[in-house]
Amino acid sequence: MAFPSQVSIVEVGPRDGLQNEKQILSVEDKVRLIESLSATGLKRIEAGSFVSPKWVPQMGNSMDVFTTLNRSKDVTYSALTPNLKGLESALSVGVKEIAVFGAASESFSLKNINCSVSDSLKRFEPVVELARANGIKVRGYVSCVMGCPYEGNIAPTSVASVSKAMLDMGCYEISLGDTIGTGTPSHTKRLLDEVLKYLPCEKVAAHFHDTYGQALVNLYTALGYGIATIDSSVSGLGGCPYAKGASGNVATEDVLYMLNGMEISTGVDMAKLLNTSKFVAKLLGRPPVSKVANALCA
Ligand code: HMG
Ligand code: MG
Repeated sequence: MAFPSQVSIVEVGPRDGLQNEKQILSVEDKVRLIESLSATGLKRIEAGSFVSPKWVPQMGNSMDVFTTLNRSKDVTYSALTPNLKGLESALSVGVKEIAVFGAASESFSLKNINCSVSDSLKRFEPVVELARANGIKVRGYVSCVMGCPYEGNIAPTSVASVSKAMLDMGCYEISLGDTIGTGTPSHTKRLLDEVLKYLPCEKVAAHFHDTYGQALVNLYTALGYGIATIDSSVSGLGGCPYAKGASGNVATEDVLYMLNGMEISTGVDMAKLLNTSKFVAKLLGRPPVSKVANALCA
């Protein structure tokens, strides 16, 4: 298949990135980060999550982030909601898109959301139903699509069946998470050959972590299948606190550089993105992980 002419980048730094940082950023700093990301031309930003603050303290101020944020009408600011309690919080602060997050690995599901895969699907059902009844779009994540920190290899058939269940439940898009970044291009092919038997490619997003430096080449492979939604984190922030060894998401700057070079449009301004990357790296007191930020900002 031909590469898409346009890609939608979902910026997950304020959620996936910051959930795995030792220091907890203040509401003001998070808001400055998100507003700066909005100004780059990004149209989709995952701004926080309504999960238990005992499980992920870094996201404990998400309600305040949403109430303080100056929301641009051109941008969708989404949040993770693992259960009805999370959805209630999201509704109370006017969130327009939420995400439920499951996994293709039983062990990861237990570690991350404290229930089995089939129980998680049962738990998501009323969340999706109530969200949709309130006009809220629901994204579905499937973690461990190319490997699990506890079980190792994960069969593409397991990924396909959870993805299909979440799509059938009413999720409008399924984001495939290579949570620990172990996938390679051949693995990405095997995964997509299976998943795309059941899901149209316009409903699939690629959410690749860059632990083994494979994320860009895996994204290139996914683009060849027509996948046109890519999740990434400014400055290469990110990881999952319940997946030991998971490093950051692929950096948004690196994805943008590749897409610009392929003449695939995104609407994102590189110079503004690099400024945001430098800004968040300074806040966290370390250089950006992104190769492109290091090359262009040196
Ligand atoms: P649990 O302990 O089974 O939940 O956790 P519970 O219903 O028994 O409640 C226990 C306590 O949590 C209670 O408080 C609840 O009120 C509270 P207590 O009475 O003890 O004071 N609680 C909540 N508080 C705030 N918001 C809520 C909420 N729900 C319950 N929504 C639960 C189950 C799902 C809540 C927990 O396991 C959890 O919060 N997990 C989240 C883990 C997480 O956020 N992981 C990272 C995101 S996933 C990811 O990064 C992967 C992804 O990027 C894709 C990829 O890369 O693969 C998406
Ligand atoms: Mg992730």
